[in-house]
Amino acid sequence: MVVIRPGPVTVGGVALDNHLLLAAGVLGTTGASLARMLQLGAGGVVTKSIGPEPKDGHHGPCVAVLDDGLLNAMGLPNPSKDFIEELEPVAKKPVIASIFGGTPAEFARVARWFLDRVSGFELNLSCPHAEGYGAAIGTDPARVEACTRAVSTLGMPTWVKLTPNVTDITAIGKAAERGGASAIVAINTVKAMRISTGLQRPVLGNRYGGLSGSMIFPVAVRCVYELYEACKIPIIGCGGIATADNVVEMMMAGASAVEIGSAVRDDITIFETIKKDLYAKKGIPPEEIIGCAHA
Ligand code: FUM
Repeated sequence: MVVIRPGPVTVGGVALDNHLLLAAGVLGTTGASLARMLQLGAGGVVTKSIGPEPKDGHHGPCVAVLDDGLLNAMGLPNPSKDFIEELEPVAKKPVIASIFGGTPAEFARVARWFLDRVSGFELNLSCPHAEGYGAAIGTDPARVEACTRAVSTLGMPTWVKLTPNVTDITAIGKAAERGGASAIVAINTVKAMRISTGLQRPVLGNRYGGLSGSMIFPVAVRCVYELYEACKIPIIGCGGIATADNVVEMMMAGASAVEIGSAVRDDITIFETIKKDLYAKKGIPPEEIIGCAHA
């Protein structure tokens, strides 16, 4: 297997301890859990998405565990501005605040609460099951550009997390780039559903949800590969990454770093496990493999 040289890395304006970040939505709701994931080897952590008003989320069931994946429709539950106090235990650490809003002004309002308390922002323009938020606006290039600009002009690193549930993800990536994004995160979950044959009803309370885990890894690789050909800003690969070889594959597609989510549910020590397999002092400089699968 290809191994790469270890060391800190700066991606999209954010200094990380290594190439592996905790993805939004997994163990990101408290300062204690974010701190724990950094202690357990994550090079940076992304918070649960925070929005303009407190939100309870969808009624349950909100999560279904599938073979090789998870189906969720949490509905963006969050305490809104009160989340600030959770950032105390991770002050000055590589923490990215995942934020959402329904308009550029809402995005900017939420971002201002966290200015100088985090290392950067990740705009959730991609949750596939939240009315008026996420993919409801993140499938429209003009709105993606405007929401990105509303945050990027505040002067902090601004990452934009994209939905794969579009015909052409490069049109959305280019819109984020025009809006001043410092990096693109690809991808959020794939819109999906399951039906209980016993109950003759959808499994999730919200009926539709987002699919994550190993089964979406090939979709994520394809999206990163396409974005690398279309955009100049760095890409952070996300979607079903569970092994060091998955990280290398994502880098070969064009990712400068990766986010890991569902696999953390299966193995809380996954960051250390991947680091052991991925890094060696005499490994290849990471820059040599990023995008190397492109002719
Ligand atoms: O429902 C949720 O909180 C999920 C968010 C997302 O998929 O971005």
